[in-house]
Formats: sequence, structure tokens, C-alpha cells
Amino acid sequence: MMNLRLAAARIIDQVTDGRSLSDCLDAPLSAVKDARDRAWVHALCYGVCRYYTRLDAVLGHLLQKPMKAKDSDVHALLLTGLYQLMYMRVPDYAAVTETVNATAQLKKTWARGLVNAVLREYLRSRDRIEKTLEADPEASFAHPQWWIDAVRQDWPYHWQSILHANNQHPPFALRVNRRLISRDKYLEKLADAGHPAKAIPETDSGIILETPVAADELPGFSAGEISVQDGAAQLAAGLLDLAPHLRVLDACAAPGGKLTHILEIMPDLAGLSAIEKEPSRLPQITENLNRLNMRADLFCHDANDVSGWWDGRLFDRVLVDAPCSASGVVRRHPDIKLLRRQSDVGMLAAEQRRLLASLWQVLKPGGFLVYATCSVFLQENVFVLRDFMRSHQDAAEDKLIVDWGLPCEIGRQIIPGMHDMDGFYYARLRKLPSGC
Ligand SMILES: C[S@@+](CC[C@H](N)C(=O)[O-])C[C@H]1O[C@@H](n2cnc3c(N)ncnc32)[C@H](O)[C@@H]1O
Repeated sequence: MMNLRLAAARIIDQVTDGRSLSDCLDAPLSAVKDARDRAWVHALCYGVCRYYTRLDAVLGHLLQKPMKAKDSDVHALLLTGLYQLMYMRVPDYAAVTETVNATAQLKKTWARGLVNAVLREYLRSRDRIEKTLEADPEASFAHPQWWIDAVRQDWPYHWQSILHANNQHPPFALRVNRRLISRDKYLEKLADAGHPAKAIPETDSGIILETPVAADELPGFSAGEISVQDGAAQLAAGLLDLAPHLRVLDACAAPGGKLTHILEIMPDLAGLSAIEKEPSRLPQITENLNRLNMRADLFCHDANDVSGWWDGRLFDRVLVDAPCSASGVVRRHPDIKLLRRQSDVGMLAAEQRRLLASLWQVLKPGGFLVYATCSVFLQENVFVLRDFMRSHQDAAEDKLIVDWGLPCEIGRQIIPGMHDMDGFYYARLRKLPSGC
């Protein structure tokens, strides 16, 4: 039988090696029969990622010398042990004994004594260690130092609340397909099915469930009455100011959350094109479109290579939901804190600039482009837009007059947790007719 703690440690070991948590979870968990056991490993892995820098700092106080790279499995197992002791409702004796027992399958006999000694020493000295860590930002905010510095510089009044919100559990949000059912009716349906929920007031269709459940267990999911989507992501389609017979482009489309929302709001467009660069992500778009009984023109292409996918007809609306650091959705994907490097942000910003410049060419004069990221870093948001507008005299900001987010020099930022939403940035640009 699979040892759950060892399974979790192996997953964490892979994440520290650069793989995403969601990619690493599936295979080992498919071998775990009991759903409660799967949920437990899931919670343990997410938790270790969420508090990785804090757990690692605690471990640093308990080890005589750092672990060798070849023993990263033992290192990961120690972190899972500490996480159980610090954050889970596992009795201390069980957390220690079971984590020590997990070493049996590692074929490293010395690990048993080390894990036992480290976890017991933590129990003896936890108060002292935790006091010492108060002065260590990486430990107390549970983020890498470069990330803390960047958020602090960008958001001098909000940085602590951003970092704090990043470490919370995200709400489970849905979008109601109002073509099929009103939000109020769906809320009633949920209540009847024993799933209390509330509306997200800043959105037309958003709701948050009190307790998360698998989406396909919810009433009307297969019939297309709902989609899983955070409230902040639900704001994009509304910003496009859709109307019948427009030609619309979703330039970075997978998995199709905003694409399908566009069609829910405005099914009688003249055309909706969707581009996605990654072939492996295209089936997710098709699956979402099929479930909702919708269609769009899909292109698997690099949106920057305009001549490769464009038929020469201009678009009235362009959505650029740009690839980004995902620094606004850390509460959903805590492994981002381990995977992301500071240098990634600059590279992503370069790609965002490229995408904006490429896609501006296919926008009709008088049309709108909505730029979105799920990032809180100015480097990927305001700075990208500022540079773009300096170099494009035919671009004017169309200010968002809305009741959500914080106003920025250009666009608006929802910081994580604000309105119960993920961190998101939006800006809207209008293409001026030539000669303006
Ligand atoms: C933030 S996600 C989009 C989420 C999507 N709009 C939704 O709401 O479901 C960004 C997507 O853009 C894709 N992408 C990145 N660079 C691209 C490019 N140059 N051309 C087209 N797609 C790109 C990524 O593979 C990723 O699927």
C-alpha cells in the first residue's frame, strides 16, 4: 500500500525540481483508492507549497548542516512532517511516528534517525524557533525575498495584505450561464441541493459556494448552466462592450473561460476567433465550447505571427489575456512561489509587449483592446501599457468606470482577496482613427 506521507514528499520533491503541482499530483493520487486519503495528500502538498519558505526556514534551525542535493526526497519528507506539526490537525505523536515510518521505503536507513530527531526537536523548541523567525520576512510572509521586495515596491500601502491574501485558501467561484438560468434561480437550485452560496456583487453572473465541491457534482454542470471561474476573470467579457455583429478576437484563449463567457453574453457576433499557442491546451477550449454548446474559430498559433493566422479582416474587439507570472493567483496555485524566478517577470513582460504590438495591428480604428493579466507586478501591467502607449500614438486609454479594483496610472488592479477575487489587472485601449 502506498505511504501517503512518502507520496506527498515525492510530489513536493518534483515541484522543487521545477514541475507544476497539478502535473505531479495526478499519477500518484490515481493509485490512492480512498477519496479522503487523496484529499489529505492534496491538502498536505498544497500546504507545503503554500508555506514552503517558512517550513524551510524552520528546518534550517533544526538541521546541523544543509541536506545534500541527492537527499532532496528526505528534505521534502521533513517539510511534510513539519507541515503536519505546524498546520494540520494530526496529533503530534502520529505526525512524528508516521513520517518516521515513511522513511522505510526510501532505502536510506540513516533517514529514520534524522527525521525522528528533527521532528522531536521541533516539538521541544517550537516556541523559540517561531520567535526567531519573526525577524525573517521569507519565513513570516511565506514568500521568496525577491517577491516580497517586488510587491512592497509596487504596492507600498497594500503589500502586506497582498502577501497575506496569497496564503489564504481561495473561494470556490462559479459563473452562471444566464442564457440558460438566472443567477437567483441557480442560487435557489444550489440551496435545494444543499450547497449554500452567495452572489459576487461586482459581477453579473458570479457566485461563491460556501464549501467547494467537484463541479460535475453540481446541478446543471453538464447541461452548461455553470462554469468554474473566479469572479475577477468574469470581469473581462463585460469590459469588451460587446454588441451584435462585432468581430471579436480572444488572442490567448486556453482554457477558454473568457471565450465562453463572451459567447454567453453575446451569441450573435459576426465572428469570434480564438488563438492559442500551446497545442496541448487546445482540447480544453474545445471541451469547454462543446459542454456549453458553443462554437468559435480556433487557431493553434503564436498570436505574434499575425501573417500565419490572420485573414486580413480587422477585429472590433481584441482581448489580450496575456501569459504572466500568475502572481495574482498564488492562493490557487501556491507552487508558483517555488517555480517562479525573478528573471521570469522581465521575460514575461517582453512577451506581453510583443503581444500588444502584434495584436494592435488587427484592431479596427475605433475598436477596443482589453489587456488583462492575473499578475500584481507593475512590470507586467502598468509599465507594459505605459511603454505601449508612448510608442503608439493611435492608442488612447478608455478609463474603466467601475466599482471594483484600485485605480492605477493606467488601468485597474484587483489585489488578491479584494471583493473575494483573485488578483487581476485590466486596462482598455481604444484605437484612434488615423489622423487623430
Ligand atoms: C492567461 S492564459 C489565458 C486564459 C484564458 N483567456 C481563459 O480565460 O481561460 C494565457 C494563454 O495564452 C497562451 N499563450 C501564451 N503566449 C501566446 C502567444 N504568443 N500566442 C497565443 N497564445 C499564447 C498560453 O499558452 C495560455 O494558454
